[in-house]
Amino acid sequence: MTELASYWPPFGLTLATPRLTLRPIRDEEIPAAVQAALSGIHEPGRSPFSQPWAEMPAGELGPNMARWYWRCRGNMSPEEWTLLLGIWHEGDFIGCQDISAKDFPALKTVGTGSWLRRSVQGQGFGKEMRAAVALYAFDWLGADAAESEAAVWNQQSLGVSRSLGYELNGVTRASWGGKAQDVQKVRLTPATFKRPDWQLKVEGHEATAEFLGMEPVVE
Ligand SMILES: CC(C)(COP(=O)(O)OP(=O)(O)OC[C@H]1O[C@@H](n2cnc3c(N)ncnc32)[C@H](O)[C@@H]1OP(=O)(O)O)[C@@H](O)C(=O)NCCC(=O)NCCS
Repeated sequence: MTELASYWPPFGLTLATPRLTLRPIRDEEIPAAVQAALSGIHEPGRSPFSQPWAEMPAGELGPNMARWYWRCRGNMSPEEWTLLLGIWHEGDFIGCQDISAKDFPALKTVGTGSWLRRSVQGQGFGKEMRAAVALYAFDWLGADAAESEAAVWNQQSLGVSRSLGYELNGVTRASWGGKAQDVQKVRLTPATFKRPDWQLKVEGHEATAEFLGMEPVVE
């Protein structure tokens, strides 16, 4: 049987770090993602996300996550795309790292967002998975900048950013779930990137890059 990745190339993409495997979440993996989210991502009542999606009642969280994964896939185009990469550690699904762009050929800039189930936080996985997508953005996609943001109180996310060499890029006030939130923007460039001491292994890049309308750039 022909593999789905023949028709939807991102499903053939895999990024591997020393401890983690990152690849686009397939439909049969959505239940594992929902279970990971249901197990708890953050302190109750203190959502670190612009939409407090992880606080939805259990019965709504699954359909909402599935809808989000399908919407991101359905809206993917060279003009605007989001790769929702699941994170696996020793075969277990532990979280999600996304990488997205708008008008990439002109702006050469990606955005990222991530979460891990609480039980595995604080072991350096967040740094390892963000380093993976920064390496992929700079060395494979040819990006000039990687941007991110976090609530000013989110020391875990800002700790990952600081540790990888992101520079502070201003504070803005946004409406998160209807409440005012001061948000710290951060920005990484190849010049400031504190590269990890390991190599990223990438499979399936060429077909994905072509699908996203890019010229493949390989180091
Ligand atoms: C944000 C998140 C992905 C980070 O992953 P993590 O595995 O917990 O973080 P790491 O263990 O990789 O920590 C990375 C760095 O941040 C630092 N850090 C972590 N928690 C910190 C804290 N509370 N205060 C200060 N620094 C902290 C670590 O010391 C480490 O820096 P170092 O390598 O220089 O020592 C994870 O904590 C998470 O899923 N949080 C809830 C969801 C969330 O906030 N998502 C981001 C929304 S913007």
